[in-house]
Amino acid sequence: MVKISPSILNADLANLEREVKSLEIAGADMLHIDVMDGVFVPNISIGLPVVKSLRKCTDMFFDVHLMIVNPEKYVERFIECGADLVSIHYESTADAGKVLDTIRNLGKKAGLAISPKTEPKEIFHLLPKCDLVLVMTVEPGFGGQKLIESAVEKIAILKAEILKQNLETVVEVDGGINAENAPKLRSRGADILVAGSYITSSNDRKKAIDSLR
Ligand code: DX5
Ligand code: ZN
Repeated sequence: MVKISPSILNADLANLEREVKSLEIAGADMLHIDVMDGVFVPNISIGLPVVKSLRKCTDMFFDVHLMIVNPEKYVERFIECGADLVSIHYESTADAGKVLDTIRNLGKKAGLAISPKTEPKEIFHLLPKCDLVLVMTVEPGFGGQKLIESAVEKIAILKAEILKQNLETVVEVDGGINAENAPKLRSRGADILVAGSYITSSNDRKKAIDSLR
């Protein structure tokens, strides 16, 4: 069954512990933490001290999505602060393969994200270094945007290539996901769905999560 990784980006950030507990109780499989630097994307979200503080209040698996330039400078520190999986953007660094190796060498799961304009074939050679690929279905930077339909076909393209290379890499999809478009993403082969505003703005988060499965 597809796993659900709620994003806390549009949650009540003044009450993060309560928010995280509520998502856990609602049946989230992991927690998606969006890190933005104001350079790779035109927004600034949360960073190392918040991840470290959150680590003290939950045992949930931390799925950390770095939307920052030069992620090689920070992956080790995000892991020290409690990240279980770190996804970096292919577009954010000169040598994504090296950063993926660093994450794995530190004993954590390595993810590679692609923005809507990046073609899947650009990352085929890196798939053996990836525990996860993250297909962005919105331009990274903000929650609450509409899913870009043309990005959806990338899921099946990546799944086919993963099969061809005989890998166990999972495909995560992120951006503008709701109960209406989730069936299409699942049928293309998505293993993990990230959803932010759809879940956090719902007054029944369990129902919202269940509706995505
Ligand atoms: C966008 C982030 C997403 C986003 C998800 O840059 O990576 O994780 O916050 O939020 P929704 O589901 O509201 O698009
Ligand atoms: Zn994200």
